[in-house]
Amino acid sequence: MHSKSNPVDALHPNPSGKSLAGMSRDFHIYQLYPSNKPGDISRRFHAFLEVKLTVANLALVGQSCSRVGEHDILMNLYRWSDKMLAELIADCYFGASLRTIAPDSVKVCLEFWEHSWRALFLVPEVLGKKMFQPLKQLVDAVEKWFDLPVESHKDTVWYTTAVEAEMQHVGISNRDMAIMLLTIYWGANTNTSSGVFWTLSHVLFDAKLRDNILTEIALAFANDNLDFEYIYERSPILRATWNEVLRTASYSSSVRLVMEDTVIGGKTLKKGNRIMMPYRQMPFDESTFGTDANEFNVERFLKNPALKRNIVAFGGGATQCPGRHFSAQAAMVLVAEMLYRFEMRLEDQSQPFPQIDETRPVLGMIDIKKDTDLRVLLTPRNL
Ligand code: HEM
Repeated sequence: MHSKSNPVDALHPNPSGKSLAGMSRDFHIYQLYPSNKPGDISRRFHAFLEVKLTVANLALVGQSCSRVGEHDILMNLYRWSDKMLAELIADCYFGASLRTIAPDSVKVCLEFWEHSWRALFLVPEVLGKKMFQPLKQLVDAVEKWFDLPVESHKDTVWYTTAVEAEMQHVGISNRDMAIMLLTIYWGANTNTSSGVFWTLSHVLFDAKLRDNILTEIALAFANDNLDFEYIYERSPILRATWNEVLRTASYSSSVRLVMEDTVIGGKTLKKGNRIMMPYRQMPFDESTFGTDANEFNVERFLKNPALKRNIVAFGGGATQCPGRHFSAQAAMVLVAEMLYRFEMRLEDQSQPFPQIDETRPVLGMIDIKKDTDLRVLLTPRNL
């Protein structure tokens, strides 16, 4: 995956002979160009949410949602975001055909996410059955999906078909393709769903912020077709809220291999070792973010949008997260659609703000502490 390719032996333009991993990064970026019609992820999101975000369908979600009275839904917000994003992103990457092969794939994914922190500690299979069992089920399912004739699994975003074609072209097995796609799906999903949860939580605890976002996004919903670009590009308060969530609720790290002995601050990093660089302290640096760096304050990005350059949630350098625009699009559309469609309020106004769990390692966005999920009531605005 990481060795250089022959520039002329690729199906897509690859003039500098990037590795498959490099091409996969570029495909993600290309997919998200607004002018790129085959990669119009936003339209898929919207079509998906049109179906999912109705009282009748929310009531069918199961554990995280229940119907209260005729019109209201009571929701466990964290649990619901997890499930919704798992379904939505699976729909993007694998289309409905994965559900035909493995109807419970989303349930299995959620089981895997819950125990997947073990992967970061390289826990061996014998000690990590709770993680390995669902993982194996998932790899089996996606391998079967790749086994289908291409014609039968074309209902995906352009990225998947492009990367599949390149991997097949160099003889990567269907099982290895499944592992590669699932790794991306894992990071994409867990991080984006936590991001959505933290964004909605802040909005629910701040009525003024909620009202301001609602006023701001109303024009995006003015016509029959949702104006996605308006949500990403012309909704500064929602954008600033997302940026502030990335700043305060991420626990990202970059991992690097030491290529030669290197002395930093009097310490020698030995060639061949791997180093992990967690960024948790940087977003709270007062010299960059101001004396209120420990507070959640959307105003800082509104007053100074250039501050976003200092967000380290997506890591940096050559391996900086290629999904950063994808996650912003998914999260901003989902948050906007939830706020626009439903009047959302805390079930019990005295619920405390959910607590972050800094004890469990994560790939990017922080989890909540067990049993601190928010209980939220939703009433449709257009009854
Ligand atoms: C809020 C959401 C997300 C956060 C906080 C996040 C965070 C990160 C971080 C910290 C890295 C490592 C960067 C480094 O090495 O310095 C990374 C890498 C990566 N992320 Fe994300 N991510 C998010 C969403 C996504 C999404 C939606 C996708 C896919 C669409 C994705 C795909 C990837 C991939 C493929 C890599 C590996 C890049 C490489 O090694 O070249 N991520 N992400």
